[in-house]
Amino acid sequence: MHRIRKLLSIVCVFALSMIVFSGCGTESGKRIVRIGHNQSTSHPTHLGLVAFQDFINEKLGDEFQVEVYPSELLGSQNNMVQLTQTGAIDFCVASNAILDTFSKNYEIFNLPYLFSSTESYHHVMDDKEVTSKIFDSTSQAGFTAVTWLDAGTRNFYTVSKFIEKPEDLKGLKIRVQQSPINVRMMQLFGGSATPMGFGEVYTALQSKIIDGAENNELALTDNGHGDVCKYYSYDMHQMIPDILIGNNEFLNSLTDDQRAIFEEGFELINKVQREEWEKGVEEAKKKAEAMGVEFIYSDIKPFEEVVKPLHEEILSKNPAIVETYNAIQEYNVLYPGKSGNTETKVENKEVSVSEVQEGDAE
Ligand code: GCU
Repeated sequence: MHRIRKLLSIVCVFALSMIVFSGCGTESGKRIVRIGHNQSTSHPTHLGLVAFQDFINEKLGDEFQVEVYPSELLGSQNNMVQLTQTGAIDFCVASNAILDTFSKNYEIFNLPYLFSSTESYHHVMDDKEVTSKIFDSTSQAGFTAVTWLDAGTRNFYTVSKFIEKPEDLKGLKIRVQQSPINVRMMQLFGGSATPMGFGEVYTALQSKIIDGAENNELALTDNGHGDVCKYYSYDMHQMIPDILIGNNEFLNSLTDDQRAIFEEGFELINKVQREEWEKGVEEAKKKAEAMGVEFIYSDIKPFEEVVKPLHEEILSKNPAIVETYNAIQEYNVLYPGKSGNTETKVENKEVSVSEVQEGDAE
């Protein structure tokens, strides 16, 4: 695996230099549209992007040629966001978790136990009135979000034991995504946060630099984490979407007609990826079980209670996201989740801007 990664980084440097030196067009004069992501070629995200590639190549094939680069071939997510900012590539998929360093509006979806159920999460993400403010908030940074992708629910898994209650995290080094909210969340859970890029996690687990990680089920199979971690505990702490971002100069260069077709294509990515996601999770669970991974369902309440203060902590520092937070609470009321511990339940709470500002002043 380590060797594969080394090889990939060499390929990555090579691919990048090819991009820099080859410019944007092809010999046939078509505009090459490059999309990077960090998942494998069997992952739902890749399948969604390939559907987009086929769609654009079919509808606008005389003018554009879409190329999808999987598996961190163009670098880590952080690198790819920077490449998209500068226009070295046109699109990339980034976890919402790392976008809060580009715009604090993205902090909202990084909050633990934000959604009461998967239904609530999906309805919020599909509501353009809620998301457009966030998706457009990075225009100064040179990119815009064009659609979202499902990345399921994040749960803890370790090399040595099940995490049945927050105290089980004590003394464990757990890899988290590179976002201050995740570091703070782990602090509240009582574990020790080790932020690092996704591509480094396998080796870190294998060499015992970390004791565990947190992610959806596909990380066990697609990324091989289940080779090392056999204890997966459903504590359902976060539902963090992936976001497809596009370079603004490229998006603005499209004519109205071309843009309309690209927009149709973005909808298609979302549709295909989400259909594949449902199947992918089921398959990953079966495959992980065959690898010897065991799944348990933890009692979610104690987890939720220890990290709940993070909501007010973040909202009071960032009142701009309060309106979105309240809109989410409305969806949580409509889609409260099933009883039992397979869905999270949060107390529905309306927070007003003045309330959090007062709280802040105290
Ligand atoms: C998920 C998510 C990725 C992200 C990864 C991570 O796999 O889909 O976008 O990079 O988690 O934990 O970093």
